[in-house]
Amino acid sequence: MKLYRVLQSQGFGSRKGCIARVRAGAVAVNGVVCDNPEAEVDRAGLELTLDGANWRYREKAYVLMHKPAGHECSHHPSHHPSVFALLPPPLVQRGVQCVGRLDQDTTGLLLFSDDGQFIHRMISPKKGVAKVYRAVCAEAVTDAMLGALRGGVQLNDEPAPIVALACEKLDACTLRLTLAEGKYHQVKRMIAAAGNRVESLHREAIGTYALPADLPPGDWRWLDTDDLERLEQPWPSVKS
Ligand code: URA
Repeated sequence: MKLYRVLQSQGFGSRKGCIARVRAGAVAVNGVVCDNPEAEVDRAGLELTLDGANWRYREKAYVLMHKPAGHECSHHPSHHPSVFALLPPPLVQRGVQCVGRLDQDTTGLLLFSDDGQFIHRMISPKKGVAKVYRAVCAEAVTDAMLGALRGGVQLNDEPAPIVALACEKLDACTLRLTLAEGKYHQVKRMIAAAGNRVESLHREAIGTYALPADLPPGDWRWLDTDDLERLEQPWPSVKS
């Protein structure tokens, strides 16, 4: 693929802009400056350098973020800054989308990708990819509440009760809830239907992939092949 097209595919701007950057000598290919935008480039293992910053070529982008509170999962946020403002511009420019949304006040594991099939697999209720949340509730977590969540709660506009894949009490007011779907405000609505109220919500994991403990709120990183496998690993069905 021609160098300027490679740059465009990675989100480095318009055709004209990419050609100009190459001509200006601002782009290195595997460590060697190349000022010919039409140069044919092998994308396998390709390392680009733009204005001194390294950028590995990736056909598709798979990224995770530790979402901080007070950010909206939207390109056009209404009341809070957008999570997209926390990503580097080339990722936004190449069109990554949130893989399911978290509420502005929810923290934790948030994925982004520009691979439509991956996004579909992760969010489709038919695929049942598990999402694990830690919820701090306003009132104490009771056995009756746990029973209701495990047995299924009826939400408005849903044809049938929704069950938690797993539900455990962590301390007096905190529970861990694992869901197979990602419906609008699902955790908050399920906990309300079980007679309590969510005070704070954090997504700990998707599939068997947990938010890395060393990733501070607001930071992001690339997902590798192993991470992607863990994200799609089916939730073990627990017989009780
Ligand atoms: N369920 C909710 O209620 N909110 C979220 O942000 C995610 C799941």
